[in-house]
Amino acid sequence: MFKSTLYKERRENLKKFFKHGVLLFLGNQDSPANYPSNCYKFRQDSSFLYFFGINEPCFAGLIDIDNDKEIIFGNDVDMDDIIWMGNQPTVVDRAALAGITETYPLEELSSYLHRVQQQSKVHYLPPYRTANCLMISEILHINAKEVIAKRSLELINAVVALRSTKGKEEIEELEKASYIGYKMHTAAMQFCKLGVKEQEIAGILDGIAASYGKMNSFETILSQNGETLHNHYHNQIITDGRLLLTDAGAENNMNYCSDHTRTIPTGGKFTQRQKEVYSIVLNCHDKAVELAKPNVTYLSVHLDICKQLVEGLKGLGLMKGDTEEAVAAGAHALFMPHGLGHMMGLDVHDMEDFGQIHVGYDQETRPSNLFGTSSLRMGRRLEEGFVVTDEPGCYFIPALIDKWRAEKMHTNFLCYDTIETYKDFGGIRLEDDLLITSNGARFIGEKHIPITIEEVENYMQDYK
Ligand code: GLY
Ligand code: MN
Ligand code: MN
Repeated sequence: MFKSTLYKERRENLKKFFKHGVLLFLGNQDSPANYPSNCYKFRQDSSFLYFFGINEPCFAGLIDIDNDKEIIFGNDVDMDDIIWMGNQPTVVDRAALAGITETYPLEELSSYLHRVQQQSKVHYLPPYRTANCLMISEILHINAKEVIAKRSLELINAVVALRSTKGKEEIEELEKASYIGYKMHTAAMQFCKLGVKEQEIAGILDGIAASYGKMNSFETILSQNGETLHNHYHNQIITDGRLLLTDAGAENNMNYCSDHTRTIPTGGKFTQRQKEVYSIVLNCHDKAVELAKPNVTYLSVHLDICKQLVEGLKGLGLMKGDTEEAVAAGAHALFMPHGLGHMMGLDVHDMEDFGQIHVGYDQETRPSNLFGTSSLRMGRRLEEGFVVTDEPGCYFIPALIDKWRAEKMHTNFLCYDTIETYKDFGGIRLEDDLLITSNGARFIGEKHIPITIEEVENYMQDYK
């Protein structure tokens, strides 16, 4: 945990958004995988972690603005727990580490809320786990189907305002998570050898995430079919002449995340055709760090990167026509059907549980309905301390190419005859995490994961 003063300060900052009311934060519970005592690895709710820091199941935190109270609800362990889990700190001890002195058993949460609910509004964030949805339904007497609709927009907006800007201590944790990402991605480069099964490499990466931190920040994406954006099937054997796309990250021991993608030549050397497309994506990746800075919208950075992509693809004879018009029409989305990036912090897609529109957009910057740009998770103006991913890609998705060609989509901009010849290409994505500074942006991660063609080939050569 961080020092208790930091959690107190965060809660004080949160309270400034409210004159009245009760702010309820439910921590997560253990989640059974196949029977109640065999659970998935525990993952605490990120907002609960942010304001209360307790990284154990079955706690709730409450900020009662009207009565000027901060309370932790949770249960001390009993003898049975001690026998199976060992001695545990008391609820009082755990609360003290978060700077809170008032605690009650979890069973009293319901009656406390029942009392205050008569005079005050109880604000809560939208639950994303059924157990917490049912708990809110029960303790606040709300029909389970209405729990999400009745979440507090005021609380969402206040928490987004605070969690979006990363403090110095958070950036240090993100750097640690990025170091684990470095270990994972360089391991992929070391262990990518002809004849090896993709699953073996993916397993090594997941082991690194677990051995240096808490866990993966999301399920590892690793495949020679990188044109499938989130490909979790690792069942192929590494064969020569292909590209291996690995999108993987870790949570460090404080649950801060990393999210990097590299695409490497399976035999250690890029072919000429691979080099050409790779260079275009790398230029896009590098341009984003030049463009991103405070007061610029990430939507405009995304669109500039799409234009850069179109320019490159025109050079290869894959696109034609006016670049601005092609991007405005959405023709580039055949090759990059996703957004440039998302917020990152305690969640790999930070705060996505609140609904992306509240995190990545605002009154000024509204989401787009255009295919491709509609997948951009972060569009609003950047501010110092924001952390966003920079993840351009270029993919040749045979089913999408066939569909668009049959529908004569964007024939002014797309050179379908040439595109046909790339249907066996796969996909390339390059991803790093950007910290917005006072006058620009920098990549998080002191250790640089090889990314230029030369760096990747030289690194892989060393492990041949
Ligand atoms: N890890 C999935 C993504 O890059 O958003
Ligand atoms: Mn990623
Ligand atoms: Mn990402």
